[in-house]
Amino acid sequence: NEIKIFSPATVANVACGFDVLGFCLDSIGDEMIIRKTEAQGLKITKVEGYDLPYEIEQNVAGVSAHAMYTALEPDCGFEIEIYKKIKPGSGIGSSAASAAGSVWGMNELLGNPLNQTQLTYYAMKGEALASQCEHADNLAPAIFGGFTLVKSIDPLHILQLPTPSELYATLIHPQIEVKTSESRAILPKEIPLQNAISQWANVGSLVHALHTADYDLIKESLIDSVVESHRKELIPHFDAVKTAALNAGALGCAISGAGPSIFALSKGKKTATAVESAMRIVYSNTEIEFETYVSKIN
Ligand code: HSE
Repeated sequence: NEIKIFSPATVANVACGFDVLGFCLDSIGDEMIIRKTEAQGLKITKVEGYDLPYEIEQNVAGVSAHAMYTALEPDCGFEIEIYKKIKPGSGIGSSAASAAGSVWGMNELLGNPLNQTQLTYYAMKGEALASQCEHADNLAPAIFGGFTLVKSIDPLHILQLPTPSELYATLIHPQIEVKTSESRAILPKEIPLQNAISQWANVGSLVHALHTADYDLIKESLIDSVVESHRKELIPHFDAVKTAALNAGALGCAISGAGPSIFALSKGKKTATAVESAMRIVYSNTEIEFETYVSKIN
């Protein structure tokens, strides 16, 4: 009557795919325990790791759980324990991991009445609390795994994309907080047509490259002509990290989600590890504390 789950960190946007592309990290994530109770209702009974609210309506995991619970009206209640490992505001899907974890766990305990798209739908309600708008580009990879493309959010339509077997992600997370809502607020409401053309060309070619495991084409497609120039102002030393990653052999390097984390994709673990060292050198020469990870995409 209880389930312990690993709720993974994710990278949204993937350079050219703002609000639509994302991928799931293999080794970084939160742990949660979801417990079925005889008493009706939902309770958050433990939050460890970071200081997050216990009130259902103020907690991302609580809001998504509540949306699903009121829709299904099960004849039981649930307790939620959250062991938060992903720092909120880090840009690797911290809120998505919480929002996805509670609905995933409840669904398992109820005998899986909902499919992955339906779970993503309820999780979006929780994610919206964190970013002030509904988007699913972190939730979809957290729930489906691998690479995903959110074709539309209303109606919700998610496509699973293949992951070439030698693709690795490297992440650097400077210990500064960038709120998703603020990082969205600085974006222009309109973009020049020429930038839009580059962007959709790159999304199309990246999707093709994933299907054909064409690493050269992945490299040519990991370009962001819409968001990066605005958001990089929020991330100290972004250009230096990107240059270092590319010089170390990364296929591409861009802001992870709303930042401040920066991700790179590489062919092979050896290159991904060399990219990690190169990224670390940039921040080692500054006052900013940071963490780095190398992960398979899974
Ligand atoms: N696509 C979103 C953004 C992801 O970049 O704002 C952040 O949660």
